[in-house]
Amino acid sequence: GPLEEMAIPLYFGWFLLSSVQVKVGCTSMDFLKTLDTLEAFKKHTSDFTGKEEMELDLEQYFETKGNLHCTTKFCDYGKAEGAKEYAEKQTVKDFYSSVFELSLSALFVTPRTVGARVSLTEEQLLLWPGDAEKEAESVVPAAASLPLGSRAHVTLGCAEGVDPVQTGLDLLEILALQQEGQQGELVEEMELGSLTYYGKGRWLLSLREPICAPACFSSYYK
Ligand code: A2P
Repeated sequence: GPLEEMAIPLYFGWFLLSSVQVKVGCTSMDFLKTLDTLEAFKKHTSDFTGKEEMELDLEQYFETKGNLHCTTKFCDYGKAEGAKEYAEKQTVKDFYSSVFELSLSALFVTPRTVGARVSLTEEQLLLWPGDAEKEAESVVPAAASLPLGSRAHVTLGCAEGVDPVQTGLDLLEILALQQEGQQGELVEEMELGSLTYYGKGRWLLSLREPICAPACFSSYYK
């Protein structure tokens, strides 16, 4: 009967445990605070403001998010394509409420979003929908040719009026540039790692030491 069936959530994903949410939030703040003081960044603030050489406070610019998580499947309560199939997958049921260790390997900033790249393990990829990258093809044409899991990320903040779905698209865009052979411009070695600029306001910080983030595989209902 309907009461026995599990209702399909807004989304499934890995939810960072609260202790690591604080750590990731602080690391992200530190990064934003440092980034907007760099001369190299100041040269490109027009990507963000439309005006040359304007002072920009990135901490103010982004509305930071609570409830940090890495979405695996956006289901929209069953309305999204493939939602029901995903919810019924045996691996999804088996791993539901298990704790995993996510590896946050990079931070990235664009005029729209700030996020953390998640590098998934083989086991974690079992929970990754096979079409997550392909779904983004209309926005990022090269997305479908990127490896499975390329889109995996944690949204840390969005600019005013930007939906969080944008964060994964921004990440795919940067990875597509890398795949095309665009090295980006190595801007500086920061304490946290090396900072690369990919044009149009796209910045990537490869973390020297990936952040290990324990996270519970679960789902969210608003
Ligand atoms: P993300 O995973 O990048 O943070 P909303 O609050 O807009 O309903 O979104 C809820 C969550 O689902 C957010 O975490 C968001 O992005 C993700 N999300 C929203 N729409 C999509 C989509 N079309 N595809 C993938 N993820 C989505």
